[in-house]
Amino acid sequence: KIVPVIMAGGKGTRLWPLSRATAAKQFLKMIGDETLFQSTLNRVRDDSIYEAPIVVTNEEFRFLVAEQAREQEVALSSIILEPMARNTAAAVAVAARAVADRFGDDALLLLLPSDHAIIVNDIYVQAIANAAKAARTGKLVTFGIHPTEPATGYGYIELGEELEKGVHTVQRFIEKPDEAKAKTLLEAGNFYWNSGMFLFSASSIISELETFAPDVIAAATQAVAKSKKDIDFIRLDAQAFAEAPSISIDYAVMEKTRKAAVVPAAIEWSDMGSWDAVWKTGDADADGNVVQGNVTVHNTKNSLVISRHSHMAVQGMDGVAVVASEDAVFVGRLDNAQEVGNLVKILAADK
Ligand code: GDD
Ligand code: MG
Repeated sequence: KIVPVIMAGGKGTRLWPLSRATAAKQFLKMIGDETLFQSTLNRVRDDSIYEAPIVVTNEEFRFLVAEQAREQEVALSSIILEPMARNTAAAVAVAARAVADRFGDDALLLLLPSDHAIIVNDIYVQAIANAAKAARTGKLVTFGIHPTEPATGYGYIELGEELEKGVHTVQRFIEKPDEAKAKTLLEAGNFYWNSGMFLFSASSIISELETFAPDVIAAATQAVAKSKKDIDFIRLDAQAFAEAPSISIDYAVMEKTRKAAVVPAAIEWSDMGSWDAVWKTGDADADGNVVQGNVTVHNTKNSLVISRHSHMAVQGMDGVAVVASEDAVFVGRLDNAQEVGNLVKILAADK
């Protein structure tokens, strides 16, 4: 069986002000009445395919994770707690060690981000099955999404030769290109977006981390070895984990490994990473507006208007996001939505 590993430790700063340090986006109901984390749990319910999931998250989110899993009546294998954020390479490294300890070196991990809206259909199920086959031969398998615009928030995967049905080698992996580069890659035609999900065996990811990110795997190994386990949580050793460099798995391993493979698949997928993605995923009215909460729009089009608090009126706008939480308001252009991450750094400095 496959061990789902859910990464739920990100702060989701680009969705400020709804996504906050105390309640990151994966724990919010962005669409429908489940949170993004809960829909991720529901995607791996089939116990003929999956073991009980492991969640890797930040210490701060431990109650959110436990409570939201309980609400869905999902039993977790374990909740691994990071004492500080060290990005996804370290999260993957501790998960791979924990999986190897518990399920053996050959066990397969399905690494899942917790901030995506995905529909499980036949295409999705088939993609996972194809990926699992390749992962058993030692490949680090990615899922390729057909790109529709020169987005700068994604990894880009160049398709190589076909290994077996539905699985290709990866010619090149380029994480978050700038806009000019993204345009070139899109025009080249043989590039896919990296979905952010991965399938690999514990032993292959550990060996690639040893080659390309030895400091990360060394720190993670120590942090797991010295961790404290209580009934619900595995608490990583803080001193050991702090030694891990902060880098994403995409930069640390995927750009460098020669074992990467890709399953191109028309998955119904949306990264709910920024306001433009929320706008695209939402149900738009005839003017292209996506609205939520106590909101009135007038002479406005192609905009996202959300209020969680006071009555909000928006007039004469085109292509903007206006988002009000209980205590903060954001106004910005949707075509510049990636910038919110930097804005939040400025806000934090101003505090
Ligand atoms: N446990 C843990 N610890 N989880 C983390 C941490 C951390 O320090 N940092 C981020 N995560 C979680 C986030 O909550 C999210 O679910 C997932 O890891 C991915 O992190 P993001 O920060 O959202 O990555 P990204 O969206 O910028 O980029 C990745 O996803 C894209 C597709 O959505 C990359 O894999 C790209 O290549 C990919 O295209
Ligand atoms: Mg993301």
